[in-house]
Amino acid sequence: MFPTQRPRRLRGTPALRRLVAETELRPRNLVLPMFVRENATEPVPIASMPGVVQHTRDSLRKSAVEAVAAGVGGLMLFGVPEHKDATGSGGIDPKGVLNVGLADLYAEVGDATVIMSDCCLDEFTDHGHCGVLDADGAVDNDATLSLYAQMAVAQAAAGAHLIGPSGMMDGQVGVIREALDDAGHLDAGILAYTAKYASAFFGPFREAVQSSLQGDRKTYQQDPANAREALRELSLDLAEGADLVMVKPAMAYLDILRTVADNSDVPVAAYQVSGEYSMIEAAAAHGWVDRERIVLETLTGIRRAGADLVLTYWAAEVSTWLT
Ligand code: PBG
Repeated sequence: MFPTQRPRRLRGTPALRRLVAETELRPRNLVLPMFVRENATEPVPIASMPGVVQHTRDSLRKSAVEAVAAGVGGLMLFGVPEHKDATGSGGIDPKGVLNVGLADLYAEVGDATVIMSDCCLDEFTDHGHCGVLDADGAVDNDATLSLYAQMAVAQAAAGAHLIGPSGMMDGQVGVIREALDDAGHLDAGILAYTAKYASAFFGPFREAVQSSLQGDRKTYQQDPANAREALRELSLDLAEGADLVMVKPAMAYLDILRTVADNSDVPVAAYQVSGEYSMIEAAAAHGWVDRERIVLETLTGIRRAGADLVLTYWAAEVSTWLT
């Protein structure tokens, strides 16, 4: 007896596989996270993220032009300030490194791409937490919100098209929306970090931004054991005015991504974070995996799970492979 059902028929040639491929990966789906370091005179390599640097203002502009030429969908900027303080004031100061970097990006590539800003205090606080601390040393949700609001307005004024609140404070999207509107930035959108987990995959990022964090973020980021609360976070962010929603990290949270994508009426992003990048780079450097194939496979998987756009440190390089 021969089987009559033969799914392999559609796999026989590259042309057949191409004809029936469900998921596409295009440069426009990819967003490049970038770091700009205050007063740097040379780009500074990030040891745990081979190929990624802390940019100078000049190298930031140059790399942004290259990434845009390669076709990436957008750029997400993080700042690495020289001085930090208890309230992260460098994040609000228009002369702070992140706001200056955003203005540089806007001057260089403007509306040719989508400029996104990390709206969070952790790069700017001397204790490394995403918010300010109360008298007991706990992260004070409501006191943090007004700082996020000021930070978002400064970022929109500097040229960010999309503000990316990543601190997981309750109410952050609503407060930022109101502040942007009050300041006249009606067209600045919010890319909400909706489901962000307290993850060991953020490890290399701590080096990337020279974080001073002791301890962890478990009182504000989500528990990896939980799926249901992602839906609660999603409905709150949508009600508060999120223009896009994001799941982070990506690869260990594809179930969350699928659930969010199935329940969201706004575009969905996923962030393939530093540890996901570093693990693959390390294995590839040993020759243990095929770097190009595995990078494309992970990004295709993240797209297949429901991400319209993917933040990935490979965005510019992969875009050159795809065009
Ligand atoms: C917080 C923030 C973090 C990342 C992006 N925004 C770090 C954290 O939450 O600890 C991590 C990104 C990555 O690991 O690539 N501002």
